Formats: sequence, C-alpha cells, structure tokens
Amino acid sequence: MELYRACYRSKIRWDKMRLPLPDEIDKTLLRIRRINRKAGVTGALLLVDQHIVQVLEGRPGQVLDTVYCVMNDPRLHAIEGIVHEPAEFRLFPNSLMFFRDLTDGIAASQHAVLRPLLDHPGDVTRDEAYLAFGHFATELLEGRLTNDMLMI
Ligand SMILES: Cc1cc2nc3c(=O)[nH]c(=O)nc-3n(C[C@H](O)[C@H](O)[C@H](O)COP(=O)(O)O)c2cc1C
Repeated sequence: MELYRACYRSKIRWDKMRLPLPDEIDKTLLRIRRINRKAGVTGALLLVDQHIVQVLEGRPGQVLDTVYCVMNDPRLHAIEGIVHEPAEFRLFPNSLMFFRDLTDGIAASQHAVLRPLLDHPGDVTRDEAYLAFGHFATELLEGRLTNDMLMI
C-alpha cells in the first residue's frame, strides 16, 4: 500500500473552543479517531503551549483529505507544514491518534528531543519533528514488545 506522511504545526484559537480544554480534547480525540478509523489514517497529536503538532499517516488521498479538514477547523490557524512526503512505514501503526499533552514541560525536561517542539519563535524543522515523534513511536513499540513477551 502506498503510504504518505504529513506533519504540521498550528496555533490554537482559544476563543473558538466550545468546552473547557480537557473536555474539548476528549471530545475532539473521540471524533477524530472515529473519522481516522474509517479513513485508515493513523498518527499522533502533541499539545505544546500555544500550538499543536500533528503527524498523519495513511494512503496519500486520505492523508491529504485529513489535512484539508484540519485546515478548515476554526479552532486552528497559522498552519505551518513540516513534512509532506511518501513514507515507507507508519511511525504510529496502531494509533488512530496518539495524544500527549506536553504543556507542563515535564516530558521535555526529561527528553531533550522534545525541547525543540516547545514554543520558540523559529520553525520546527523536519529533523526535529522526526526525532520528537520517533521518541513516542519507540516508546509505543517497546511497550508492545514487552506486552508480547509477557503475553499481556
Ligand atoms: C487539533 C486537531 C486535530 C485534528 N485531527 C484530525 C484528524 O486526525 N483527522 C480528522 O479527520 N480531522 C481532524 N481534525 C479536524 C476536526 O476534527 C474536524 O474538522 C471536525 O471534527 C469536523 O467535524 P464535525 O464538525 O463534523 O465534528 C482535527 C482538528 C483539530 C482541532
């Protein structure tokens, strides 16, 4: 199957949130995982202070349709593309949308690869995005291998 990967960073429009942030996140994740399941799209979403950074993986047409949906979501603006390219494999094969809130800075203080995602004036580069998402992809893979070994 031909695979495509898109990754972008976007600013959050707080005035467009309809619910308190934790409820808005829960509701949105429930909704997007349902849509992504139908579209065969997987990926990860990181909340970073005033931004979100998201990676989307799947068939090229489905990924591009999803990017289009995201671009039209009133809760986001100032979208900056970081990665748009064919992919050989999925970084998040089993995640309809993996989510981590990095706003408290704890994960970033423990893992240097996450620091470039924290708010700073410059762009997030392709390499920085791959290192950060690779960190979580590896964490998930290790968890799966441990579960397999323990037959959980
Ligand atoms: C942070 C964020 C991430 C999103 N991720 C996805 C996604 O992975 N897949 C998708 O189809 N839509 C995604 N969207 C888009 C919205 O979920 C979608 O446009 C919205 O739910 C529209 O559907 P509705 O108005 O029918 O609920 C995302 C939106 C936001 C704000």
